[in-house]
Amino acid sequence: MASEMEKNRIFITCPKGIQTSLASEIQSLGFPLLSESFSGVETEGTLDDTMRLNLYLRTAHRVLYLLSEFTAKTPDELYAKTAKVPWEDYIYETGYVSVTSTVDTQTITDSRFANLKCKDAIADRFMKKFGHRPDSGAERDQAVVHLYWKDEECRLYIDTSGDPLSKRGYRKIPMAAPLQETLASAIITATGWHDNGNFINPMCGSGTLAIEAAMIGLEKAPGILRNNFCFMHLRGFDKALWEKLRMEASQLSKKNLQNRIIATDISSKAVDAARKNAMTAGVEHLIEFSICDFKDTAVPEGSGTVLLNPGYGERMGEIDQLAGTYAGIGDFFKQRCRGYTGYVFTGNPSLAKKIGLRSKRKIQFFNGTIECRLLEYELYEGTRKINKPQSAL
Ligand SMILES: C[S@@+](CC[C@H](N)C(=O)[O-])C[C@H]1O[C@@H](n2cnc3c(N)ncnc32)[C@H](O)[C@@H]1O
Repeated sequence: MASEMEKNRIFITCPKGIQTSLASEIQSLGFPLLSESFSGVETEGTLDDTMRLNLYLRTAHRVLYLLSEFTAKTPDELYAKTAKVPWEDYIYETGYVSVTSTVDTQTITDSRFANLKCKDAIADRFMKKFGHRPDSGAERDQAVVHLYWKDEECRLYIDTSGDPLSKRGYRKIPMAAPLQETLASAIITATGWHDNGNFINPMCGSGTLAIEAAMIGLEKAPGILRNNFCFMHLRGFDKALWEKLRMEASQLSKKNLQNRIIATDISSKAVDAARKNAMTAGVEHLIEFSICDFKDTAVPEGSGTVLLNPGYGERMGEIDQLAGTYAGIGDFFKQRCRGYTGYVFTGNPSLAKKIGLRSKRKIQFFNGTIECRLLEYELYEGTRKINKPQSAL
């Protein structure tokens, strides 16, 4: 890429509230932590570094490489300053570019107008220099420029991801109320599971949790399944380096797990979809699927994590019917899961109370706009009591 050796600030977006998981991932890849906010984490690196970030991050949505930062009070000022950026160093004049934005400024009410101003500034610069300009439109599959404009502060980024990184490429069949892959990964990270016990996932739906668990257990890079990232469309994209990174990632990935992953659902369609999704992800051989009521899930002797994501009445299922299901989860934990740590991910605090066990930890998440909790239950072996009085979320 044009300035592949130039270090710049990189803002990495994530689903609301999982920035702490993202921050530790970024640090364990050896990148510095510059700042952390509810919507993402800032680090720094070169454009080439964005390939590693796109390949390895499990909880990120987009990797944005900062090109220019300035103040602008009006759309005209935005246009003038955007036109000064050397876009031709990054974007092919014969290519395709789209502009996206996050805008919160008093001067304009419609962010599409800001996008248009940026796009015009880029196109006019190309016309002046080459008598030709890249095509432009709404597709985010080639070069993407992202504008952040808050009050008078503007930042122009190259979006090196395009489609959010949650779109790993394996979930061909989503079923009802699927968890986003990035969120599923953050939930598993919060449980501490990394192939250090069995992973049991009743109510698996399209299999997102079980598939993400398998990928975490294998240390398989989540980006390895995807065949398009926006950095591939930038001028100077180092294809050989990308192939080398991919090769290294597949060599680093383990071939097998030490423990079992079991995924079940009452719906045969869901299990079928989950199995196909797992096959696409290349982890089908590591997950034992079966069709059954969650209560009948075979929990092997030993220890590990039992994680359920029941419907919570927002998008599927009726609250009254679900009350019985939640009470049943409490019984299932008590009767069948001793020695394990139980987890329920839900966005409905009243239903969660029906589980009837005291939760040891409550971790806040957001599923889109819905505030959710991951509730942790310690399910002791032997005589220690697990059925303590009810507690709220
Ligand atoms: C919210 S969805 C799970 C979504 C899943 N985490 C995903 O990412 O696709 C809840 C699932 O619970 C299943 N389910 C509902 N009642 C059940 C029961 N009694 N036993 C087993 N599965 C059940 C539904 O078929 C549905 O697939």
